[in-house]
Amino acid sequence: MLGRRDFLRQTVKSSAALLFSKKFSNLLFPASNVTDSRVEILLDEPIGTIAPEIYGHFAENLSGVIYDGIWVGPDSKVPNVNGIRKALIDEMRTIKPPVVRFPGGCFADSYDWRDGIGPSEKRPRRTNFWADGEQSPAPAAHKFDPNQLGTNEFVHFCKLIGAQPYLAANVRSLPAQEFYRWIEYCNSPTGSTTLADLRAAAGYPEPLAVRFWGVGNESWGCGGNFTPQEYAAEFLRFTAWVPRYGQTLSFIGSGPNVADWNWTRGFFEGLAHKGRSHFRSLWGWALHHYAWNLSRGRTQDWVQGKGDALNFDAVDWYELLREGQRMESLITGHWQIMGESDPDHSVKLVVDEWGPWYRPGSEATPGDQLEQIPTLRDAVFSGMTLDIFNRHPEKVAMANCAQLINCLNSLYLAHENKFCVTPVGHVFSMYAAHQGGQAVRAAINAPTLHYDRDGSTTSFWGLNGSASLHGKDLVLTLVNPSVGDPRESEIVIRNAKIKSGTATLLTHSDIHAHNSFEQGNVVTPQTKNIKPPPGNLVWTFPPASVTKLVLTLA
Ligand code: AHR
Repeated sequence: MLGRRDFLRQTVKSSAALLFSKKFSNLLFPASNVTDSRVEILLDEPIGTIAPEIYGHFAENLSGVIYDGIWVGPDSKVPNVNGIRKALIDEMRTIKPPVVRFPGGCFADSYDWRDGIGPSEKRPRRTNFWADGEQSPAPAAHKFDPNQLGTNEFVHFCKLIGAQPYLAANVRSLPAQEFYRWIEYCNSPTGSTTLADLRAAAGYPEPLAVRFWGVGNESWGCGGNFTPQEYAAEFLRFTAWVPRYGQTLSFIGSGPNVADWNWTRGFFEGLAHKGRSHFRSLWGWALHHYAWNLSRGRTQDWVQGKGDALNFDAVDWYELLREGQRMESLITGHWQIMGESDPDHSVKLVVDEWGPWYRPGSEATPGDQLEQIPTLRDAVFSGMTLDIFNRHPEKVAMANCAQLINCLNSLYLAHENKFCVTPVGHVFSMYAAHQGGQAVRAAINAPTLHYDRDGSTTSFWGLNGSASLHGKDLVLTLVNPSVGDPRESEIVIRNAKIKSGTATLLTHSDIHAHNSFEQGNVVTPQTKNIKPPPGNLVWTFPPASVTKLVLTLA
């Protein structure tokens, strides 16, 4: 039986039917008087501040993500800013990206940061970690890393889009000293060290001020096959006495795969054993969860269990959401275990890889490894996941959707001069309004939905979401997961009245709908003003939809 760890090992070693469709074209912003559900916003029950960083991204040096997706080169015909795709910069600026993780992923533990600095024409070409998974006609840049996008170019990209860089260090194949040196290269003051001079010679005299540092990636697997105890010792060695250069450094430990409670417990006990003061070196604990198993319980095999990105039926739709909903219990479960050793919860969760993972076959650019086309299903999945993070702001300090462009749950697809925003990208643009808000409790009552899972009746919630307050503005996002039924809801805002508002809706009459290079606007959000109601607001959430209500309170 193949697991993700084996898959990754194998990858580096070896090489629509519309079963369900619905017609709800008249259901964009419908109105109704009969309600079947209730959403009550408890303004007096704050949960915590929503860290903007939970709307973060992940860009690994993997196939078409960096080379073609982000980097086209300064001499390219594709419009670019210093080699970085201009269309991507322009789009990302509209979604307020807080942070981008780079260069991996599994790639990180094979990367020598020194290959990506200095004059671009002198940089070495190296075999990419993912090279053996590339198809033979894949561009050379996907197999043999040209190192044209290195530390400076990545940090420059982050500056252009207004995000903070999050660099993942190599723990498997470089010594701790190289980690200190990478930090020195990035953060030592102008003119202070040889590495600062090298940075200045490349046109970056000012410190790059990199705060977020990942200490390895998936150290239980591609990051070194450590036991949690071994990794705890490595983590302490890498983070002990790191020079600060006046810059706050936030170290992120390589956390569990899905429900690997032993990994979290073993690591936290290992740190506590050395002294609880060591938790001060650990800012975040990374959790990875991909929703991939659509086999309806038939297999746990990493290859056999996957579904198709474009060809799926209503049951596959619900199964994907069910896999994604596990995120909530993973957050609360790991949080509880972390609290056994760190009762003050000084360490927060960082979900630095999340999203659906389908089998190959739907690539927008044939041959791009791990690329899949996001549909309305992935938009609903992403809205649901971001709502989960919003509901746990005291636990989740950062999250990074895997991955930004030309990969798994991508916000954007690009190839040469072609570019489009996916339905997932539109969800990020809608949900940006939550960033930095005060999360408040939303009590949601809606009929549970049921579906036939190969002979057994299975249920899933009928409406869910999250709410945050920004001064007088209440931002409410709600997901209706039903492929067929609208939800007619009464929205009750305790102790407040609505003065004005807007509603933004993302849905489509076909649950398989997606955007492409040829048809970039099949799934796009629509916004309209809300007339202030005399009493409670009554709102219809169409089937298979993500809705954002921004309500200004009197
Ligand atoms: O996102 C693709 C891969 O998934 C990452 O490189 C790795 O960390 C995870 O297994």
